[in-house]
Amino acid sequence: AAVRTYDFDIGWVYANPDGLATRPVIGINGQWPIPTISVTKGDRVVINVQNSLGNESTSLHFHGLYQNGTTHMDGPASVTQCDIPPGQKFTYDFTIDQPGTYWYHSHTRGQYPDGLRGPLIVHDPDSPHKDLYDEEIVLSFSDWYHELMVPLIQREFLNIANPSGAEPVPDSSLVNETRDLKVKIEPGKTYLVRMINMGAFAGQYVWFEDHTMRVVEVDGVYTEPQDADMLYLTAAQRYSVLLTTKTETDRNYAFVGSMDEELFDVIPDGLNPNVTGWLVYDDSKEKPDAQEVAEFEPFDDFTLVPQDKQPIFDKVDHSVRLDLKMDVLNDGLNYAFFNDRTYVHPKVPTLYTVLSTGANATNPIVYGTNTNAFVLEANQVVEIILNNDDDGKHPFHLHGHNFQVVHRSDDDAGFYIPTASPPPSDSFPSTPMRRDTVLLNPNGNLVLRFRSDNPGVWLFHCHIEWHVVSGLTATFVEAPLAIQSQLSSLGGIPDDHLAACKAANVPTAGNAAG
Ligand code: C2O
Repeated sequence: AAVRTYDFDIGWVYANPDGLATRPVIGINGQWPIPTISVTKGDRVVINVQNSLGNESTSLHFHGLYQNGTTHMDGPASVTQCDIPPGQKFTYDFTIDQPGTYWYHSHTRGQYPDGLRGPLIVHDPDSPHKDLYDEEIVLSFSDWYHELMVPLIQREFLNIANPSGAEPVPDSSLVNETRDLKVKIEPGKTYLVRMINMGAFAGQYVWFEDHTMRVVEVDGVYTEPQDADMLYLTAAQRYSVLLTTKTETDRNYAFVGSMDEELFDVIPDGLNPNVTGWLVYDDSKEKPDAQEVAEFEPFDDFTLVPQDKQPIFDKVDHSVRLDLKMDVLNDGLNYAFFNDRTYVHPKVPTLYTVLSTGANATNPIVYGTNTNAFVLEANQVVEIILNNDDDGKHPFHLHGHNFQVVHRSDDDAGFYIPTASPPPSDSFPSTPMRRDTVLLNPNGNLVLRFRSDNPGVWLFHCHIEWHVVSGLTATFVEAPLAIQSQLSSLGGIPDDHLAACKAANVPTAGNAAG
């Protein structure tokens, strides 16, 4: 295994990725789009960050990585670290022991849609699919706003932009951060196409004109191959597909990412929900016409079977029920709730409270009432029951794990009823699909299961950035006493991490609620 070292100087640059508006974006080393992190399973990754934004603090999260033994490297601000203030340095240092398609992004309030988001690919010499393809292609799809997030968030919260309280609608949509992507391919070959939705809000329907996709990986989990005409990627989801090119053709083909307009409160005049790239067989031939939204059935990810056929966890040790609600409170601002509580960032990062409270770390009270904290014991089967009391779609993500999706209702099913007859477990799949981000349907429900085998402080949140800002987050404090001994055997929190707190006058010890 290698050590991969990256020096990332994070700062503002200008860009005009859709050709419609030049705006400041957050780049790395003077460049935007930011680099792809590309490593091999087993590598140690060292990322030396310098925050040169000047006006904003920042952080990096490596979406989907388990950070086993390194929860302090997970990235979310006020959870496992302090925000990195302008002018400060901060090093992320961890080993990656899992293969697949991931991404990295800022985990500071509402910041990544300003451009601080990039692919993270972990190659696997032992991939069960490696003999099935010749080359790899990475495609990121994302919605795009012409305005910066800070004013958009302020306006959303002040209800000026959207009197209805609805989320701002994106101005356009990008593939690999552009609207003009040509992908050169050769006839008679098979490509592994890794797809990532790095957007803030919109789900993306993705299809290739006249080419079938064969799904082989979902959020880092290898699957039994299955064919799909069209995929739906919520914000933060990933798929890898095998795409076999034609042996003979005299033209080029389009591929399309199409934003899910059902999420939008209004559809502004002139909004083009699609971004079209082209598969180029022959450079001298024309760009294909963008296809109309085709009459494809989107692929149902619930039918996927993990390649390792991990059986369902059928004995649940600890069940956590979360009822989701969105509301505008008396102050006129938009909030999101789990069990009637909206998440508020604690003053002391939750991990630091774990480390400073000794034996009390197992008592959820020490994490404050507004962190929606749940303390998990080690090595249990944990079930999350998620009930949607809102008529919107919500893509939910758990840090530090993937989870079995054992049940997902359609729209309007109401709350999950565990005592339904026949027992719902009879209808659960025996080898459920696992992933780290899953769609909760409007007024529907979800049942997720995982084993608490990874001590750490892990967020569980909707990956729509507007909803993160509105407080749609819970905190799992998993095996807090094991976290304490892990960190003490590493010599405690690194000095540069503590320095970030010091520079921002954030206390690093004590009671989060205090
Ligand atoms: Cu993509 Cu909390 O993360």
